[in-house]
Amino acid sequence: MHVILLGTGAGGGLPQWNCGCHNCRAARARGRGRTQSSVAVSADGKRWVLLNASPDLRTQLAAHAPFWPEKLRDSRIRAVVLTDGEIDHTLGLLLLREGTSRMPVYAPSGVAALLAGPWPLTTVLEPYSGIDVRPLPPRRPAALADADGGSLDLTCTTVPLGRRPPRYASGATSGDLEVGLRIHDPATGGSFAYVPVAAAVDDDVCALAAGADLLCFDGTFWSDAELHDLGIAAPSARAMGHAPLGGPDGSLARLAHVGAKRTVLVHINNTNPILATDSPERAQVTAAGVEIGEDGMDFTL
Ligand code: MLT
Ligand code: MN
Ligand code: ZN
Repeated sequence: MHVILLGTGAGGGLPQWNCGCHNCRAARARGRGRTQSSVAVSADGKRWVLLNASPDLRTQLAAHAPFWPEKLRDSRIRAVVLTDGEIDHTLGLLLLREGTSRMPVYAPSGVAALLAGPWPLTTVLEPYSGIDVRPLPPRRPAALADADGGSLDLTCTTVPLGRRPPRYASGATSGDLEVGLRIHDPATGGSFAYVPVAAAVDDDVCALAAGADLLCFDGTFWSDAELHDLGIAAPSARAMGHAPLGGPDGSLARLAHVGAKRTVLVHINNTNPILATDSPERAQVTAAGVEIGEDGMDFTL
């Protein structure tokens, strides 16, 4: 299985358009930042599945040759799997509207309901190429397939991690709204756990991560009051459904014990001090044996 980290930033990316924090200023000066959270996986390097579809999708697909068409109309993206209904993980569906067939979109039950209601991408995309929302029942491997039902030679198992609705649908409570994914390649035995949003490192995360060749995990915030401490009026990390990395109760201390062979942080917010090359927080991540994801990192599992 091939895995490419398309984008490793949280919502807003790095730099974020209206942010003048230390990391955003440094990214502008360097001329290099992070696009918003998404991963591509493929059994054969030709037919790809997007795990979440970010607002930066166009740039992300242009950046990697495996996605470039070889014919006049040629989609290397054969399906999309969603972990949640947040804008940074779904807005890219709009950017696939030029497709020539209905895009399969695998979604947990609560997310499918969001796409049919308060975030009406199903309706909006219908006059374009349309999306075919397919259910992802929890804790059962689903064989991923393309628009014609052809196997993509990967299975996807979801584990529900939370029921926190996105801000645009704060009343939504039904169905699974946040899941982690375990992608399995039956041909190689390779396994990939993808958990970009996690409120805790609990038994459910362990179920996803145990024995995985690669775990990509929620690296959004270092501390619970990170935004507040910078003077930004915003909820705490935990209130936003993201376990902070740092501190005795933080996720970093637990990640070494979840049983993944390699752990890489993704969905990293622009305010997170681990992004500063010389920060003590970054040194703690490295000392814990955890890697900080970068856009364009690739893996073969
Ligand atoms: C999140 O991950 O908490 C959301 O994507 C935040 C947002 O961008 O609105
Ligand atoms: Mn997000
Ligand atoms: Zn910033």
